[in-house]
Parts: sequence; C-alpha cells; structure tokens
Amino acid sequence: MNTAPFVEFDALLSGDQVGQLLHIVHTRAPYPTYGEGRRQDGFGAGIPQRYDAARNFVTTRAGQDEVWKLASRTNYFRETYAYERPLFPEIAFFQQLPQFVAAAQQVTGRRIVRPAIVYLNILVPGQELAIHTDVPEFRGANRTREPEWLLVAMHHSGLFDRWRRHIATGVSWYHDCEGGDFVYYPDGVDQAPRNLRVRRNTAIVLDTDSVFHGIAPVALRDTSLPPIEPGVRLHRDDDGRWSVRRDGEVRATYNWNDLRLSISWKAWCFKDEEELHVNDEHKDDLTLDQILEAFVGDLRRRGKVSSRPDDDTLARLILDEYIRFPVSA
Ligand SMILES: [Fe+2]
Repeated sequence: MNTAPFVEFDALLSGDQVGQLLHIVHTRAPYPTYGEGRRQDGFGAGIPQRYDAARNFVTTRAGQDEVWKLASRTNYFRETYAYERPLFPEIAFFQQLPQFVAAAQQVTGRRIVRPAIVYLNILVPGQELAIHTDVPEFRGANRTREPEWLLVAMHHSGLFDRWRRHIATGVSWYHDCEGGDFVYYPDGVDQAPRNLRVRRNTAIVLDTDSVFHGIAPVALRDTSLPPIEPGVRLHRDDDGRWSVRRDGEVRATYNWNDLRLSISWKAWCFKDEEELHVNDEHKDDLTLDQILEAFVGDLRRRGKVSSRPDDDTLARLILDEYIRFPVSA
C-alpha cells in the first residue's frame, strides 16, 4: 500500500484565533462523554455503535485493567460544535478555515470541499483513544440511521466505493502535552505507525475513514482515573480548574494543562458538480436491504455462507470478515 496523503500544520491559527477558540472551549463546558451516542433499532440492535474498535481495544488490553477502568479509559469527553451548520455563530470561522479546505483538496484529490462538522474531544490523564478508523458515510447510509460499525465494515469491504462520500478530517491541538501522541498508520496496517507529538496550535489533515489512528495514553497509565461512565460531565470550575462530576459528586479535578484537547473538523469532498448533484438530489442512494444483500452476496462468494443467515449471525460475520486492524495495535 502506498502512503496515504496527509498535510501537517506547524501553526494552524493566528494567536487571536487560538484565543477565540479556547474561549469557546471554556464557555461551552460542561461536556458529556462519547459513550452517550444513539441507540440502534432494527438490524444491529443490541450491538454497541463502535463494537469494532471497542472489541479490538478490549482484546489487546485483556487482563491489564479491571473492566470499569478499561471502559473509563476510552470514554473521553465529546461535544459537537457544528454539523453542516455552525451550532453557534462564533465557531463559523473555524468551520470555514481556508487552510483546512485547501488541505482537504490535496488529501482527497477532490476540488469541491464542503466543510461540515466541528467537534471537540477532551481526554483526562489516564484516558486514551483506541485505534480505529472513523465512521464513514455513503449516499443513503450514515450514522443518523445505520449502525456505526456497519458503516466502518462497508468502507473496509470496498464493496460500496461507488456510493462513498469522501471525507477529509483535520485534527488540531492546543496544548504542549506530555503523552497523548496522535498515532496513525498512513503506510498501512502491516507497517509501523507514525507518532505526532501534541503541540499547541498544530494540526494534521488526512482521510481518517481509511487511515487507522488513535491516541496514546495521556500521562502515565497508572495515573489514578475516576470512573467515567455515560452521564458523567467535565465541568469548568470558577477557579479555572476542570472537574469530572456525576450530578453533585466531584470525582476528580484537573489543571487545564493536564487535559488533552483536540478539535476536529470534517468536510465532504466531491470530485465535480455531477457528483455533488447526485449526492444532493439523492439520485443514487443505498438502502439497508441493498447493503445487507451485497454483504451476503460477497460472503457467499467467499464461501462463508450458503444463504442469508439471521441478523445476529450476519452482523457477527460482517464484523469478523471485513475489519482488519493494524498488527501492532
Ligand atoms: Fe478518529
């Protein structure tokens, strides 16, 4: 596999813009945890949205931590600031950042870039983000309806390339951080990863739907970590410190410099007006039946099934067959 393209920024924003963004981060707190996502009905009901990544994480960490701690390690804090439109006006400058738009063109080779999503991740010491690829989108299939692990398997299978919405992702940092390196595999799953140290006002743009990536542990793994389950909030306190709380209970407090903040940006990238038109007018959208039928057809060709299995068996087969993690993850 060739090295996947990426663009790094040594100084992404002006000093004023960094201040503007950090002001937003401070004033929009408290933040919920990532584990509070959508529940799935129908196909995939009962399977966690990112079962693919969680299973790999648990398998590679088996025996190192108690279960609550393992779950707390990777249940970091997440908030969305823009989804197609800015959710508040002050974030618009970041959503439309010209340097990200240009990098997205370069990384995807597609000239029409439509900035879409801005979100924040904050990790506290002891947390990490398991190796994964992001949730991709297809015309007619995205995370508002389909299971997230199914979308990931769809992309890894290569069976749905015609319908893929190409997404460029920018990840930016605002700390000089001990640990918490961005670990990524642009050279493919069989090659060693690269590490990017987290430094204030730096960024990388790449196709995170295709390139496996994650976050190395923030500070030492033996740092005491409070239980962080869905329902926990990260608050900014009056004295400028940050606290992990559940209702009235304060579980831990941190200095800002002990936390690891990243702000991510995603844009849909289109080859030409024709592709944009097909997307916007829903001229060629997938249906769930069509997706499952294609998987069954391929599994049949691979000799894994002879007819359509029940939903649970099919889900397990798809998870086992199509998502291959890096060997060193
Ligand atoms: Fe990611």
